[in-house]
Amino acid sequence: MAYDRRRFLQLAGLGLGAATVPSLLGGCATRSTTRESPEFWKVGNFLPVDGETAATNLKVEGAIPPELNGLYVRNGPNAWQGSTEHFFLGDGMLHGVHLEQGQAQWYRARYVQTPILYKNPFMLLGPLMPEHNMSNVSLIQHGGRLLSLGEAGWPFEIDPDDLSTRQVFDFGGKLNTAMTAHPKIDPHTGMMHFFGYNVFRPYLTYHQADATGELVKSLPLETDGPAMMHDFAMTEHHVIFMELPVVFSMSKALTLDPFPFVWDADAVCRMGVLPKDGVAADMQWFDIPTCFIFHTMNAYETGDSVIVDAARYDALWVNGSDDFNHPAYLNRYALNLKTGAVTVTPVDGQAMEFPQINRGQWGRNYRYGYGLTIGVNDGQINYDSATGYIKFDMHTGTSERLDLAQGLSPAEAFFVPSPAGREEDDGYLLGFVYDPSTQSSDLWIMDATTLGSGPIAKVKLPVRVPFGFHGEWVPRESI
Ligand SMILES: [Fe+2]
Repeated sequence: MAYDRRRFLQLAGLGLGAATVPSLLGGCATRSTTRESPEFWKVGNFLPVDGETAATNLKVEGAIPPELNGLYVRNGPNAWQGSTEHFFLGDGMLHGVHLEQGQAQWYRARYVQTPILYKNPFMLLGPLMPEHNMSNVSLIQHGGRLLSLGEAGWPFEIDPDDLSTRQVFDFGGKLNTAMTAHPKIDPHTGMMHFFGYNVFRPYLTYHQADATGELVKSLPLETDGPAMMHDFAMTEHHVIFMELPVVFSMSKALTLDPFPFVWDADAVCRMGVLPKDGVAADMQWFDIPTCFIFHTMNAYETGDSVIVDAARYDALWVNGSDDFNHPAYLNRYALNLKTGAVTVTPVDGQAMEFPQINRGQWGRNYRYGYGLTIGVNDGQINYDSATGYIKFDMHTGTSERLDLAQGLSPAEAFFVPSPAGREEDDGYLLGFVYDPSTQSSDLWIMDATTLGSGPIAKVKLPVRVPFGFHGEWVPRESI
């Protein structure tokens, strides 16, 4: 069923405004279902840390490559109240480690200073403004700005010197929608391609910001309804949207469900290919077998086809939006733009998530991908079940794994290219690893060319880093 903003506001009895429902209801509601919830985000290393931290001259095991100069920073939810009613809700906290000439100069954990931080969350039901989002998903460096992204609203500009929040950033007043936490930057043009989705019409808007950070295109698009769209993909000439069967539920929103999106097996499941320079009518939709996808790894063009590599779930949230007990596997989608044919091919039998690449290959044929391996038993996963890292060779179809010692919990690893590198995999993988026996975290630095050999350096952190979402690398020359 389609909803426009007016109908929603009539039903909800709220005032005018523009925001997605996650930012509207974030952290404010009481769970309405009586079904027993696993609430995994209320235990262990999912729990938030208590307050902000700053430390200098960190201890290091091994040797940090002297060419690795800059800031690794990662975003994630850290509820200031101590807990929230959904894993995705929780105030954005940035965890950053600054590396310089082989030294780990500092670590900081700082909240993104959004207007709703430290506020009574019921205040969210008031102004319904796009800056009222938790900004807890990812970061992107573009146009001379480091942006913290929350998917449900506008970005916040972050100072890479100390992770302080400068201001909400709406592209000089031009951005009229929320902004995905997964924009793609074309490495050849510097153009940032992104989108915003909403539970009101237009449900989907495509944006481009040029290399200076100026918003130069905003194109409302037609979809079947208000679907949750976490990520998309980009090739040299196209962008690819994913309209999948996790959709907004008005009935759940009206019962103040903390995250009112549901699995709807009757909803469309398709990818839409749009020329970057196209208009809305140019979208070409491809029905795909039922699935859900949080993250794409990369996409590119070959012949008449667009190739999209993505972490594919058979289904998601079948038992509610706190049901993450579904493994994902890397699959290759081939969409033939001339014939309309679709093929889906499993790439690897290892369950994985958080796919990454050398972003110099974004949108182009590429050889290497990276990810977090997930442990699966009888088709079931534990919520705290990441087991290590994996490197895919997309040309040979092989993979290489780094399995961590029992008990250690790895998080997303971000690929940082070697400044002197020649090959696509010349670079480093940076990710936080949690050790429950000491309740502490390290930043692991791995050589991507020899992933299976283990970390070449571990930066010892003074506090644990809770499980979170996505990181970014800011080279020293950009700080
Ligand atoms: Fe994500």
